[in-house]
Amino acid sequence: MTSETTHSGSAQMAYTTLGRTGLRVSVLGLGGGGHSRLGLSTGGDEANAEAVVRRGLELGINFIDTAESYGTQSAIGRALKDVRRDEIVLSTKKWAGKVGEFLTPRQMAEGVEQSLRELGTDYLDIFHMHGLQMGEYDYVVGEIVPELQAMQQAGKIRFLGVTEMFNADSSHEMLSRAVGEGCWDVIMVGLNMLNPSAGRDVLPAAAEAGVGTLVMFAVRNALSRPKRLAEVVDQLIDEGKVDAASLDRTDPLGFVLVGGGADGGASSVVEAAYRYCRWRQGVDVVLTGTGDVDHLASNVESILRPALPDDILARLDDVFGQVDSVSGS
Ligand SMILES: NC(=O)c1ccc[n+]([C@@H]2O[C@H](COP(=O)([O-])OP(=O)(O)OC[C@H]3O[C@@H](n4cnc5c(N)ncnc54)[C@H](OP(=O)(O)O)[C@@H]3O)[C@@H](O)[C@H]2O)c1
Repeated sequence: MTSETTHSGSAQMAYTTLGRTGLRVSVLGLGGGGHSRLGLSTGGDEANAEAVVRRGLELGINFIDTAESYGTQSAIGRALKDVRRDEIVLSTKKWAGKVGEFLTPRQMAEGVEQSLRELGTDYLDIFHMHGLQMGEYDYVVGEIVPELQAMQQAGKIRFLGVTEMFNADSSHEMLSRAVGEGCWDVIMVGLNMLNPSAGRDVLPAAAEAGVGTLVMFAVRNALSRPKRLAEVVDQLIDEGKVDAASLDRTDPLGFVLVGGGADGGASSVVEAAYRYCRWRQGVDVVLTGTGDVDHLASNVESILRPALPDDILARLDDVFGQVDSVSGS
């Protein structure tokens, strides 16, 4: 990954190029979905959601991801209303529906128009098919993509993307196919310290094809809540994916905190989680989802720290290197 840094607001954000799109993007992107949905699903109101977006801009974030289904497009649109459009990279998405109840191409086009209205813009930088699974893939490529390509011709969409359903497709079956398809300029892939399989099964092929990569699930629940981490680790041990002797079950990721922030170690599991993803070969942007401006500032600091030390990366690989069966939710 090549990146440069520049001063913006109080932080010194780093920027990189999003694959063949050529878009210059912050290495940390703000996600409007996940469990927080900018705080709208955790007790925050619309004003707080807008404040999170504005704080992200102050911190140098220029990549913002949302989706029709998140209910955050309008808050993002309001937060951006006084910002120059070409200073922001906007990414949104829509579900295709399931076998037997697919959206028509016309309905998909109406979704794009709705996203444009809610975001208050006349073009989307990236429009993704949301959470696509293998059973839906052929319909989407055959019927929906041509409609979206017509919208590209009309200047309403700059680049097409596809995101996986990581909870249901934790071994990246869909993206392993999509990455070589040619119509997708950008992919959104699940990756974290507990399931690093994208580093083997998706990211090298994406780099080879020049496809831009967005990482989701860097932290999620398992890496922000110790109780959930313990449950996921127990599951992996029960499934035989992780060797119980390779870690301390009472503190499974304690080893990533060795040095307590000194000597390149991390001071928290959340910090380690974002750093881990940023520095994986082939990753362009790591998404962070939060409804908390202090968490956001802390996550910017984390993403700007160097890669985790080699001995910690080797231990993570030793413990979790073969896992492809959990998402970390
Ligand atoms: N299939 C798809 O297309 C798909 C699926 C999932 C996600 N996404 C996209 O990817 C984005 C990122 O995923 P995600 O939202 O799950 O992000 P994430 O950054 O992996 O995890 C977010 C979770 O971590 C917590 N958190 C964040 N920073 C924290 C901190 N410093 N300390 C403690 N807890 C912290 C958040 O809670 P707080 O609000 O309390 O900070 C939230 O519960 C989404 O927002 C969405 O845009 C796409």
